[in-house]
Amino acid sequence: MVFRDDILAGKVAFVTGGGSGICRGIAEALMKHGANVAIAGRKAERLEATARELETSTGKRCLATPCDVREPTEVEAALDRTLAEFGRLDIVVNGAAGNFLAPASQLSYNGFRTVMAIDALGTFNVCRAAFDRYLRDHGGVILNISATLHYTATPLQIHASAAKAAIDSMTKSFALEWGRLGIRVNGIAPGPIEGTEGMSRLAPGDVAEKHRASVPIGRYGRIDEIANVAVFMASDAASLLHGTTVVADGGAWLTGTPLEW
Ligand code: NAP
Ligand code: COA
Repeated sequence: MVFRDDILAGKVAFVTGGGSGICRGIAEALMKHGANVAIAGRKAERLEATARELETSTGKRCLATPCDVREPTEVEAALDRTLAEFGRLDIVVNGAAGNFLAPASQLSYNGFRTVMAIDALGTFNVCRAAFDRYLRDHGGVILNISATLHYTATPLQIHASAAKAAIDSMTKSFALEWGRLGIRVNGIAPGPIEGTEGMSRLAPGDVAEKHRASVPIGRYGRIDEIANVAVFMASDAASLLHGTTVVADGGAWLTGTPLEW
């Protein structure tokens, strides 16, 4: 472990998207550093299975709180369950997202709306409900999972690029309005991460092989590397980070090399 294993002792985190991939890795890392965690997603069965696995691997408690982040009432219920179970809420990670490759000319109205709704509206819904229920009175940390798609322009991903740009904007707005209440708001923008649903959707087959070689560090990132960034940013070591989105991509976006075009 890179950090002392008790730096998040006594904390409670709510992690959307925590049933799989990068955010499962973040949930596990927060637990390994002392936090109890609630994980949220739509698939209740997978969430339950993940929760039991994370409890076994970390010795901390993990609560499965199924919800669709597009539905404010479901989000509110999931947060209420988290607070009823753990009695506090210190860290909120917004990782729930959807993505697929589609040319703008063929993307349906509903396809665009769906990704905007999960990523952007979902992030607002969770932040807003967590603020009302706990953060306004106690402070805390919000981490919004973004991407680097919109730093340049990424082909076939107008939906996800727009959604992540909206998330980065909200990270700054929330930071501006909520900083004095002791709520620290930041984002993490991962580059391509090995072994994730995201990359299997966006870089099938030999596309990844060619793209990987273009990354300045010569490889894609790993889930545990993003999880370490999240642990740092959730901890007091990051007390001066506010309203910023940290890029963790091995320099990938600097080259502007798209996956395929
Ligand atoms: P993933 O495993 O598919 O994670 C997405 C999660 O979001 C799933 O657990 C999914 O659970 C949940 N989710 C989707 N729609 C939801 C909804 N409406 N309500 C609640 N939960 C919902 O993908 P990943 O690749 O690890 O990506 C995780 C995060 O990292 C995303 O924010 C993604 O944009 C970002 N990211 C990933 C990469 C990468 O290389 N993979 C790069 C840059 C950024 P359910 O299906 O159960 O709802
Ligand atoms: N290409 C083009 N359009 C697509 C698509 C694809 N691969 N997948 C879905 N869509 C469109 C659908 O056709 C639909 O539009 P329509 O009603 O005009 O036909 C719209 O998107 C919504 O699809 P639906 O399957 O009803 O949405 P959902 O809410 O059940 O699922 C998704 C959301 C589409 C994002 C789904 O892929 C998902 O659940 N993803 C979560 C996992 C993920 O994406 N991980 C990577 C994170 S980076």
